Amino acid sequence: MASLTVRQLDDTLKRLLRLRAARHGRSMEDEIRMILREAAQETVCDARDLINPPNPALAEPRRASTGSRAEPGLRSEAADRHRLVLIVGGGIAAYKSLDLIRRLQDRSILVRCILTAAAQHFVTPLAAGALCGNHVHTDLFDPKSEFDVGHIRLARDTDLIVVAPATADLLAKMAGGHADDLASAVLLATDKPILIAPAMNPQMWAAKATQRNLAQLTTDGVHVVGPNVGEMAERGEGGVGRMAEPLEIVAAAELVLHGTRLLTGRRVLVTSGPTNEPIDPVRFIANRSSGKQGHAIAAAAAAAGADVVLVSGPVSLPDPPGVDVVKIETARQMLQAVERALPADVAIFAAAVADWRAEQPSDHKIKKQQDRSPALKLVENPDILSTIAHRQANRPRLVIGFAAETHDVIANARAKLAKKGCDWIVANDVSPETGVMGGDSNTVHLVSAGGVENWPPQSKGDVARMLVQRIARSLKDLDAAGP
Ligand code: C5P
Repeated sequence: MASLTVRQLDDTLKRLLRLRAARHGRSMEDEIRMILREAAQETVCDARDLINPPNPALAEPRRASTGSRAEPGLRSEAADRHRLVLIVGGGIAAYKSLDLIRRLQDRSILVRCILTAAAQHFVTPLAAGALCGNHVHTDLFDPKSEFDVGHIRLARDTDLIVVAPATADLLAKMAGGHADDLASAVLLATDKPILIAPAMNPQMWAAKATQRNLAQLTTDGVHVVGPNVGEMAERGEGGVGRMAEPLEIVAAAELVLHGTRLLTGRRVLVTSGPTNEPIDPVRFIANRSSGKQGHAIAAAAAAAGADVVLVSGPVSLPDPPGVDVVKIETARQMLQAVERALPADVAIFAAAVADWRAEQPSDHKIKKQQDRSPALKLVENPDILSTIAHRQANRPRLVIGFAAETHDVIANARAKLAKKGCDWIVANDVSPETGVMGGDSNTVHLVSAGGVENWPPQSKGDVARMLVQRIARSLKDLDAAGP
């Protein structure tokens, strides 16, 4: 087949092409493909019409439309498909990115690839280009490229940017807002979601600087998948730092791409934060809880289209967008607010409810006395999770509890599942060395009657999104099973 060189076209034509591509929000390369595809289809249609009357059986099957991007009158399959920019960083895991390209294409995702300078020591532009069927971008200024699309267009002309492997250096550049090469410039210039798949040596992953950068990125709304625990390329080295497997990255990418419709029409109730049980007007009993995980779940459910009520104890977090927030202080107020919020399809109890309250809180500040300390009589608070899980009427179809444990995490979670009568327990190890309490990442196990799923270490936001995905799937199964 004859090859076409844009550089050989006259300047006016090149300018017109550039204008047309910009108007359609596409790269020049994609615009040219589109023109050729349309021309070829028209030729086929004309020839067919001459020989036979139009036959619907010959029509090209259309893929499920995403609705928003397809331009009217444009018979383009490409316009209906999700577009993704894959940035490959320089690490040994880069070889897995070639498989990732294939896996993404299997899901009908159009992939464009950027290789950093370091990545080119591990994979070649030729190999990546052959797999994604596209010119691979390597330089911020690429005078040689006939398809010089510019970093701004690369950054915007996509639905998602995936960085895999995301090296410690790339994370630092992203967190610091650097833009001294094509990959970092695209990441800084984009207004689209970003998913990173970190991969590095466990020491580099655990380094304070990396964890600081990661915390900054998750605060900035960057999605994270992995890293997993396992062996490193260096013999004898192991720990947290292996890049997530290509299929895990595809699942995370799909969640970001499709996540906005997963829970449309569902009502979700979430509890979050601690409860404060007054002893007197200035003192209270409480559990440690930042509310980060519960709030992230409420935010993820709202982002997935659910109608969300968040019943929250005192936290220093902003209200998640699009969520109906009910603020309470005590366990008894929390129970009341939860019961008022029913019915719901799903109830997720992420709050750290104080087990006890003072039997008779004083209405004035208790003064210190020299000779004796005051006696504090405690009574047990209602167990909100158990109360709702055991309801006969208006029991949400899915009742999910949390178990924060410091030892025997799974065994304790199983016992809690049975005792509380809920459907799932999200169990996590909160022993001080894990840094889960108040931190931004979490490693959880989903415990149900069906078994245990061990989820990889990830940000609390990603735990929330993964949970939302599992909830959506489970509600669909429950719908199919009938009342
Ligand atoms: O019994 P434990 O506090 O470990 O159970 C934790 C789970 O139970 C969490 O989901 C928590 O929100 C819920 N819980 C509750 N009401 C209580 C105590 C715990 O809803 N009084």
